[in-house]
Amino acid sequence: MRFGLIGAGLIGCLRAQAISKIPGATVAAVTDVAEPAARALAGKYGARATATLDQLLAVDDCDVVIVCTPPQYHEKAVLAALAAGKHVICEKPLSNSVESCRRMLAAAKAHGKILTTGFNHRYFPAIQFLKKTVDEGAIGKLNHVRAYAGHEGLSQFRSASEYDKKVIGGGALCDVGIHLIDLTAYVLGDVCEVSGIATGSVWNLPGAEDNGFALLRSSTGAVATLQASWTEWKGYRFHLEAYGERGMIRAYYAPMMHLLITMDKPGGKRQRSFSFYPAMAIKEKVLGWQHTVIETFRQELVDFISLAAGGPRGAIADGYAGFRAVEIANAVYRSSAENRSVLLTTAGES
Ligand SMILES: NC(=O)c1ccc[n+]([C@@H]2O[C@H](COP(=O)([O-])OP(=O)(O)OC[C@H]3O[C@@H](n4cnc5c(N)ncnc54)[C@H](O)[C@@H]3O)[C@@H](O)[C@H]2O)c1
Repeated sequence: MRFGLIGAGLIGCLRAQAISKIPGATVAAVTDVAEPAARALAGKYGARATATLDQLLAVDDCDVVIVCTPPQYHEKAVLAALAAGKHVICEKPLSNSVESCRRMLAAAKAHGKILTTGFNHRYFPAIQFLKKTVDEGAIGKLNHVRAYAGHEGLSQFRSASEYDKKVIGGGALCDVGIHLIDLTAYVLGDVCEVSGIATGSVWNLPGAEDNGFALLRSSTGAVATLQASWTEWKGYRFHLEAYGERGMIRAYYAPMMHLLITMDKPGGKRQRSFSFYPAMAIKEKVLGWQHTVIETFRQELVDFISLAAGGPRGAIADGYAGFRAVEIANAVYRSSAENRSVLLTTAGES
């Protein structure tokens, strides 16, 4: 499978490395509004660098494009790629508004092409363990999910556009929070009701909350609480916990770890197991966090290639999951502004 990369920044470069690790997959073409960036990345992989998106789509040597531009430019690239008959992997958040995500879903349907969302955190081994354990019923019926993700905020960003509402569609909930919303919905099932509060009194960025707090309810009655933060003072931290009738699982990063506690009957004897993923910890020490990200991108691509060939989709997040996460973030904003809970009426739409 031949991949075209749109955007040759941090993520475009990591995605190119992931492609190079898959037998039979190649980086065929790269474009970026900053032409030297496109040329530098293309040069590393013997790929073609193009000056424009249209030129990249016109060449017949890519089957799939991966959109790695800032979110406000996702829609234009995705719609053009789908219209040109390409499958698309689009980075998170799918776009900077709910309406824009809807247009992208409609275009994928109209052109009969695959659109997936770059929710690579689904491939963290601790998350895969959590999801599998919940689905297998090891903690009994799911009762609730607790989720948190945060980083330092302003000192973490490379440019002001990364915390600009026009670019990303909001604040912390659309940034670190968008992975968290997706993972919560992935475990909880389809979310039908959202309440929340978005606060911005630490960094005071117009329209971009520095903390977003949400209470979600699924159609099965399971509940989730989550917080996305730009005021985590101690680096990047993230955890997802699932609580059932007979146990709990915690997935934590960084460093990667999981903890599982189960009991054989209500109030019965407790069993405890955990993993600190030592091989991953050593690789991250030597090769940096990028090693983990590239590995998640690699696994996501393997699932994408399978899906495109009509095989199983694995853990890959489709375009609907991307739309749904943006819709939930926006429901928190509405709930916060109008002081009421918001019902999502699109449950189950695909
Ligand atoms: N999956 C993850 O965990 C993860 C992590 C970080 C960022 N992201 C997402 O990846 C995307 C890219 O983020 P990044 O950190 O690589 O940003 P970046 O700023 O490092 O790179 C973006 C690149 O896109 C180029 N660009 C901008 N507008 C363009 C356009 N219209 N056409 C072509 N190229 C254009 C820029 O010149 C730049 O080289 C964003 O959507 C971001 O939210 C995902």
